[in-house]
Order: sequence, then structure tokens, then C-alpha cells
Amino acid sequence: MSKNDYWDLTNRPHTKLKLEIYKKYLDSWCAIFLNQKYYEEVFIVDCFAGRGEYKEKGDRADGSPLIAVKAAKKFQDDFDNKKIKNKRNFKIKCRFIDENKKYCKSLEKLLAAYINDVDFQIINDDFNNTIGDVLKEIGYKPVLFFIDPHGIKSLKKKSVLSIVNKPGAKDILLNYINEGVVRIAGLAKKCMDKKAKDITLKEIKTITNLTDFVGDECLEIIDSSDVEFLEYYVENILKSNNENVNSKNKLDVIAFNMPYPNKSDTIYYLLFASRNKNAIKIVSQVYAKSKESNLKGQRSFFGPKEQLKLHNNFKV
Ligand SMILES: C[S@@+](CC[C@H](N)C(=O)[O-])C[C@H]1O[C@@H](n2cnc3c(N)ncnc32)[C@H](O)[C@@H]1O
Repeated sequence: MSKNDYWDLTNRPHTKLKLEIYKKYLDSWCAIFLNQKYYEEVFIVDCFAGRGEYKEKGDRADGSPLIAVKAAKKFQDDFDNKKIKNKRNFKIKCRFIDENKKYCKSLEKLLAAYINDVDFQIINDDFNNTIGDVLKEIGYKPVLFFIDPHGIKSLKKKSVLSIVNKPGAKDILLNYINEGVVRIAGLAKKCMDKKAKDITLKEIKTITNLTDFVGDECLEIIDSSDVEFLEYYVENILKSNNENVNSKNKLDVIAFNMPYPNKSDTIYYLLFASRNKNAIKIVSQVYAKSKESNLKGQRSFFGPKEQLKLHNNFKV
């Protein structure tokens, strides 16, 4: 077992917790749409789907696409057994995007068992290239986006804006990789102090990654703390469409911080955006409950009370 193997959960309690939070929210999300008679077709889009499974102490564990397909099957079966008045149909369509060919092949194999039960599609492409077509297919239908990149390099502001601007109901669970932002912002800051002729091509690429992620203006806030950077991201990207829509459609955003064990730094923030007040309430509860659980025997630095305080910072 390698400590650096991303697909081995044994030493990655923070990845495990992220998947648990995703699963818990997905179950509530599916239940909400199952019970609403107007919605006969909804979508789950996993924008950085991965290979479909992890290892854990010699066993296997579901990756996010398996979690989604199992939820889709369960809630479609519930619909068939339940009969909801004036609702003729209920389908949860899953779209999985990953640019890695090998991972898509692995996913195809793992999902084969669900081919007759769930409408799923594996899209082997760069998320930033393909998200426009996925959004066209979805139109006004409700959708849950799971955005879980390795770092900030592959997550471009323009793509997240296209999701935020999608008309109709959308919920977004976005893994904001704080350690990546801090590292790349630090490198970019060093470059700002250099003479233009001394900046290397590699450094220019690094700055471009940051501006693609957060926009050109981010260089003006390069000296900010990581929380200020996060607030900037929330206000200028996730909530950027709020000024164009009525109060019913404004996105509210809450954050869950995942600290390193033994340190006060944050690995990532799991940001949740939704216009639905009940969804925000459900995820706040899932976040607060997750804070009560131990991470590999480590109690987290932010308890449920501090977590609620953090939520309040991100209210619309
Ligand atoms: C953190 S992993 C996803 C893990 C997955 N959500 C899970 O929990 O099972 C990130 C994935 O994004 C993929 N990836 C990286 N850059 C990408 C891009 N530009 N477009 C689509 N996928 C990308 C990688 O191949 C990797 O599988």
C-alpha cells in the first residue's frame, strides 16, 4: 500500500469523509425529487468522475460514480413501488466526465451491471471542453453537479460560471482544493516580485492556472489570506449570477472545512451551492454531523458550533 496512491483510502480519511457527505446528500436530493410530482427527469453530473472504485485495507470501496448509480437505481425502484399521484415517470440520468481514458474504461466495466437499470453516460473528455454540451442536454431540468478535481488546474472559472448560470434548479457540491490555491497563489506572488524577464515559462503557466481558476482580477488579492481568497471565489464565481435573478433563484453557499490531522491548515473546503433553502438546511446538518465524527481518532479543529459560524459567513 503506497501512502501516495490516490485510490487507496486507508490513509485518506478526508477523502472517505467527502464521499460519505456526497452519499448522504445525494440520498436526500433524490428523495426530494422523487416526492415532487413535477419532476420526472433529473440529472446527476459527476464532472471529475475518476475510475469508479478505491481500495481500502484490501477491500474495495465505491467511488463517486458508483455511489450515484446506486442511488439512482434505489430511488427509481422506490418510485416503481410507491406510485405517486399524477407522476407517471421518474428517471435519474447520470453523466460521468473524466479525461483519463484508462479510468473511463475501468468505470465502464464497473457500471456494466447497471446498464439496464440506470441511464448513464461516460464522457471521456476534458470537463472544460464538454460541460457546454452536457448543459445543453440538461436544459431546465434539475441537476446536481459534483465537482471534485485533483487540484485547481483543471477547474476553469468559465466552466463553473456556465454551471452557475444554468437556468432552473441546480445544486453544486464543489471541492475547493485550498492547499492547491495556497501553493499556486504563493508561487504567483513570488513571480510578481520578479522582473518580467526573469519569469520562467513554468511560472507563467502557474499564474495562468490561477487566473483560469479565479479570473484575472485575482492577482489584485494575491496577498489575501486563504479564507479571504475563498470568500472571493464564493462571491465572484458561485454567487456571481445572483444579481441577475430574482430572490427565489439566488444561490446560497455554505462551506465545510476539512483540516489536516494535527494541523490547523485546511486541505479543502467542500462548498455547497443551492437556491433551495431546505437543501441548504439538509447539507448544513450533514456538515455539522460530520464534524462530530472523528477522523482517524483525531477530533476536527472546527466543532459543530464553529462550523455553523463558518456557514453564516457565506450566507447570501
Ligand atoms: C479527485 S479525482 C475524482 C475522484 C472521484 N470523484 C471519486 O471520488 O471517486 C479527479 C479526477 O479528475 C480527472 N481529471 C483531471 N483533470 C480533468 C479534466 N480537465 N477534465 C476531466 N477530468 C479530469 C482525473 O483523471 C481524476 O480521475
